[in-house]
Amino acid sequence: CGIVGYTGARSALGIVLDGLRRLEYRGYDSAGVAVVADGELLVCKRAGKLSNLEKALMERADWHAPEGAPVDQPLTSGETPAGEPVLSRQEASGKDAATPLGISGGTTAIGHTRWATHGGPTDRNAHPHLSSDCRVGVIHNGIIENFAQLRDELEGCDVEFASDTDTECVAHLLCRELEKPDVADLSEAMRRVCQRLEGAFTLLAVDANAPGVVVGARRNSPLVVGRGAGENYLASDVSAFIEHTREAIELGQDQIVMITPDEIVITDFAGNTTTGKDFHIDWDASAAEKGGYDYFMLKEIAEQPQAVAETLIGRLTDAGEIMLDEVRLTDQDLRDIDKVFIVACGTAYHAGMVAKYAIEHWTRLPCEVELASEFRYRDPVLDRSTLVVAISQSGETMDTLMALRHAKEQKARVLAICNTNGSTIPRESDGVLYTHAGPEIAVASTKAFLTQLVACYLVGLHLSQVRGIKYADEVGAVVAQLQAMPSKVEEVLTTMEPVRELARELANSRSVLFIGRHVGYPVALEGALKLKELAYMHAEGFAAGELKHGPIALIDEGTPVVCVVPSPAGRGVLHDKIVSNIQEIRARGARTIVIAEEGDEAVLPYADDLVRVPRTPTLLAPLVTTVPLQVLACEIAASRGHDVDQPRNLAKSVTVE
Ligand code: G6P
Repeated sequence: CGIVGYTGARSALGIVLDGLRRLEYRGYDSAGVAVVADGELLVCKRAGKLSNLEKALMERADWHAPEGAPVDQPLTSGETPAGEPVLSRQEASGKDAATPLGISGGTTAIGHTRWATHGGPTDRNAHPHLSSDCRVGVIHNGIIENFAQLRDELEGCDVEFASDTDTECVAHLLCRELEKPDVADLSEAMRRVCQRLEGAFTLLAVDANAPGVVVGARRNSPLVVGRGAGENYLASDVSAFIEHTREAIELGQDQIVMITPDEIVITDFAGNTTTGKDFHIDWDASAAEKGGYDYFMLKEIAEQPQAVAETLIGRLTDAGEIMLDEVRLTDQDLRDIDKVFIVACGTAYHAGMVAKYAIEHWTRLPCEVELASEFRYRDPVLDRSTLVVAISQSGETMDTLMALRHAKEQKARVLAICNTNGSTIPRESDGVLYTHAGPEIAVASTKAFLTQLVACYLVGLHLSQVRGIKYADEVGAVVAQLQAMPSKVEEVLTTMEPVRELARELANSRSVLFIGRHVGYPVALEGALKLKELAYMHAEGFAAGELKHGPIALIDEGTPVVCVVPSPAGRGVLHDKIVSNIQEIRARGARTIVIAEEGDEAVLPYADDLVRVPRTPTLLAPLVTTVPLQVLACEIAASRGHDVDQPRNLAKSVTVE
């Protein structure tokens, strides 16, 4: 979920809506806002995308007064003269402070965009949730695991619930705390309530009786403060306020923050004053804009050469040594490693699968790759000589974070590969290698994946160097090959027109299969995942050699099969084997779409469609072979009329297990 809060001199509603627009990739099942204005909480919420909420706000149909009116009751408070649009576009962008009193005049607000966990994506389950007297409004990201017990307790005290969510109990609990004579303010109430909550959460709350105050709490789920001049912000991530300030504070685990226009006060759950971690955001709002592209995904695909190049910058010292960032492990620690585990989810997991081939080859260390959500539950064998590499674009995926914590409990060393500075996963790791993909907004990951591959190669090379394995001598050569990759990715991008045409032809297929061998196997899985995510089509990736053991039964006349072919130069045997596999499926009627390197003539007789990629060393090939598959999925989805950037049911950052 995406959460944002503002307090300052400007119209808070517009600023919060702008923030939500930038956070919508975090979830788009519903959206809502609560504004503190004239001692009241004015709340509007809608199922569906943010545009539904904006429409409702423009129509001004469902603002409700603080007497506990149901969500859909017409406005009774803060109304402007009939017929006058309440929110002009200008006001909605927060640029005009001279708006009439009422909703658009309120200068303190919170807003939420939801990825549903407890309770379906309906208006009534949309956040904010209110206490029964409508004094307190709460938004939440995460899951409150003991909510059933809290709900029973509250219902036992005659509290009536207006939603099916776990969040609502927090609003009621806060309200009850505020009524106690020894509770000074909303921060104090929040501290007391948080001590009773189990699970993972970020909470923001406002109190109708405390204009100018937003209180936040953080356990596991992310929360950052944006420091403005005479105004302050709270949000799930900095993109929500990057337009207004680049100075931010990352909150730590189990911290409470209270913001007013001029103050930021951070305490722990026991009430002791503490501090967060200050940081400066080194990208600007335009990095999170579409920049003329129809979709963020197209822009992000196009940014890949630069993202790869930037992830490589500054990695090689004059002495030829590979550098990671912030490593709190000694070379001796790395020499003592006898096993590597990679944990990740989704696309990052596919990057980990590629890493396995590279790390085992270059370091001769056994390397396992595991879905983060499975890892800790099967009691993996870990000790201080195990290195666990956690790969995560966002740095906040709960499954990956929990896998990492489990590894640390077992004394393993943990290294993060992450795209988000200061996020939880790198903060809790013993070392980190940051990818420099810049903000990735489209839910389906593209440029982050390519940079994760680069980071994985660098980790493999670094380990090989430190441990002095035989391949250490080759590190310089591999780095040179890596440095040639941005221009190769660029080359692929300039030849994508035939792939777009092919996409239009395949748009009505029932199913598309993907096959690959060696590092081409994870590429096949990634190609299939992209197509599932974006086009909602049946798509599956297989190890090409495994096809004959079952999945070949799926092949029928005309079934499209994308075949990722390795270089004939690197490992001839791999290449020849997949050419045989292609013949096997073609003999059974498949339409073969072959991704092969320039000059590979052997595939010609068996390719119904041929996509060429530049010649690339085998281990690095995923950096080029993935790109046509991204374009294919994006174009098929667009031809089918889907929302490419925000596919149904998904969220970019999943902060629940
Ligand atoms: C979500 C996204 C995927 C992403 C995965 C891991 O499921 O929809 O696109 O690959 O999380 O995200 P991470 O931020 O940990 O790389």
